[in-house]
Amino acid sequence: MSPRRITADANPLRDPRDKRLPRIAGPCSMVMFGVTGDLARRKLMPAIYDLANRGLLPPGFSLVGFARRDWADQDFGKIVYEAVKEHARTPFREEVWRSLSEGIRFVPGSFDDDAAFDLLAATVAELDEQRGTGGNHAFYLSIPPGSFATVCQQLERCGLSSPAHGAWRRVVIEKPFGHDLESARELNAIVENVFPADSVFRIDHYLGKETVQNLLALRFANTMFEPVWNNRYVDHVQITMAEDIGIGGRAGYYDGIGAARDVIQNHLLQLLALTAMEEPVSFDAHNVRLEKEKVLSAVQLPHDLATGTARGQYSAGWQGGERVVGYLEEDGVAADSRTETYAALRLDVDSRRWAGVPFYLRTGKRLGKRVTEIAVVFTRAPHLPFADTATEELGQNAVVIRVQPDEGVTLRFGAKVPGAQMEVRDVSMDFGYGRSFTESSPEAYERLILDVLLGEPPLFPRHEEVEQSWRILDPIEKYWASKGRTPDQYVAGGWGPASADDLMHRDGREWRLP
Ligand code: BG6
Repeated sequence: MSPRRITADANPLRDPRDKRLPRIAGPCSMVMFGVTGDLARRKLMPAIYDLANRGLLPPGFSLVGFARRDWADQDFGKIVYEAVKEHARTPFREEVWRSLSEGIRFVPGSFDDDAAFDLLAATVAELDEQRGTGGNHAFYLSIPPGSFATVCQQLERCGLSSPAHGAWRRVVIEKPFGHDLESARELNAIVENVFPADSVFRIDHYLGKETVQNLLALRFANTMFEPVWNNRYVDHVQITMAEDIGIGGRAGYYDGIGAARDVIQNHLLQLLALTAMEEPVSFDAHNVRLEKEKVLSAVQLPHDLATGTARGQYSAGWQGGERVVGYLEEDGVAADSRTETYAALRLDVDSRRWAGVPFYLRTGKRLGKRVTEIAVVFTRAPHLPFADTATEELGQNAVVIRVQPDEGVTLRFGAKVPGAQMEVRDVSMDFGYGRSFTESSPEAYERLILDVLLGEPPLFPRHEEVEQSWRILDPIEKYWASKGRTPDQYVAGGWGPASADDLMHRDGREWRLP
């Protein structure tokens, strides 16, 4: 049966007033490794359906799963169907699903099984014949980094890594990109030995978030922020990624990795880079990445890692009215684990723009609520022509980029309290995505998968950025390991260990209460 084309005009989810040209991927398929994992089920498969539902996938788009399961195409199709039903962002439409499911294939096998990869190559060639995928195939490695080498070598051995003339092959790799600088370099050598650098797409899903991209719009499409975005006006920057969840069933991955490697090395340092970088010459991949690399290379660690960093581990507590266990009681966590579930650090950026402006980063599991934000906090006015009592309740001005969940931007400034006296107090002015736009934000993975299929790399960190992040993190990890003690405890549902507050207090500052 030939697949039905979903044209942009026929798609009821598209606002007919939207005259922008849709970015629709050309003929292609995606081969996914790690389809039995949580990420594939919760994010990747639903994102593919959502793209199809928005009319952004080509008509013959095909999805090939590869795993060590005794499944036929239909069994895998059922797994995808359930994932879509449960986790897709957009409404379920039978005709979209039917068209998508026609292109679902499954290849059973393990990574060291030559015959399975030969079968994969035959399946992919068949798709080119049957579904017009044009020799264009993306390989999504949602698997532990320990298996990257084997899979890449297999893809090379059976000819899947080299495209025919005019076609493309791309590889998508999920974090963690190594465990430290050295292992990241090794990993990179393995992948880039098989795929050329411009065919390697490293996923940092924070870069796919609308609000993170909006940071660039806010800074570089306006005139009023950039003139004050420097050490003349900015006192400090706080980047917070707080999660209310624990580690769930992810002990196998998380224990031994910890908060800093899990999210600071990638998401938080990327947020820092976007907040602090200079304006790129243009928004093409080369120039955006170049500016991020420059600013990351200017990041300096605190002189004293004992006072400039803090780490914690959650103990039992209450969250959302429920009693939750401590990290050490979680399934699969060693009773004497020293893995941190909270990390905070102070970093400096050695540049003319940022000299003397600390960047405070913090992240943790089982904190008071789920919130990610970047707060640029300004210096106090050099002079206040009011009586002291008039400004007692005036704080510092701030621009807060609310990454999630309440996506938007807040400006905090002082305003006169109505009445006969002059009294100035903090107020907020809010931009909220939900109120200003009719379109809902796509999931990060929708944007990133589409960019892979379109071959547009600006939102994917280059290896040099990954190396810079490990350069920053390695000494901290080494220092923590050398202390040989368990991280400071904090109660689940709270805001992290006292040592993180001390870190701020020593600088005469406070963490914001998001
Ligand atoms: C992942 C981390 O990269 O990001 C997880 O491995 C974390 O530990 C997740 O929970 C958070 O993503 P988001 O999009 O929910 O903020």
